[in-house]
Amino acid sequence: MARRPVAVLISGSGSNLQALIDHGASPEASYEIVRVISNVAGAFGLERAARAGIAHQVIDHRGFASRAAFDQALGRALAESGAELVCLAGFMRILGPELVEAWADRMLNIHPALLPSFKGLHTHEQALAAGVRLHGCTVHVVRPALDDGPIVVQGVVPVLPGDDAASLAARVIRLEHRAYPLALDLLASGRARVEGEVVRVEPGTPTLIVHPELG
Ligand code: GAR
Repeated sequence: MARRPVAVLISGSGSNLQALIDHGASPEASYEIVRVISNVAGAFGLERAARAGIAHQVIDHRGFASRAAFDQALGRALAESGAELVCLAGFMRILGPELVEAWADRMLNIHPALLPSFKGLHTHEQALAAGVRLHGCTVHVVRPALDDGPIVVQGVVPVLPGDDAASLAARVIRLEHRAYPLALDLLASGRARVEGEVVRVEPGTPTLIVHPELG
């Protein structure tokens, strides 16, 4: 099957981008990353794209008079890239409803919490403050509301006695690196379909990644 062209938007280190690149190199991957766009010049993810030979560019939000103007520039770059799907991977700008609607059901985000709990920033601190015993990550289809939308894959980790935000973040991000390639593959291959506000998958398709301690 032809690989679906994907654009990845980043703002920082790009370790999730790296996981998507690495999985994308395997013969069974159903996607190909055709463009990486960062809103931050010097983001390490751009270096990762360069090393992998992937076209990459910076669209610095600070160069635009309004959020709408930034979104329009981003929208043009995405259209020009030939991407059919978009992945937000540590992309720390909120996109306006127009751009999100233009990519409805074709844009994914990874969030470091078990949505719908702990939206926004500082998710690991939020989880510790709430005293939850389970935490994790969610790959979801992007909707205009922040950290909202149909869930494709979740990864679950235990919260252990003595955890701080850093130890919890380290445990979660290891699962993020497995959850994102899985979710993108499911959507790109058509094994996952967005039906309204729910993602349906074929029976037997894995959509949950469990930390070994919960096994
Ligand atoms: C990841 O933990 C991702 O889930 C989070 O930023 C980190 C990016 O790391 N995203 C958000 O918080 C979005 N709301 P990375 O640049 O190494 O992939």
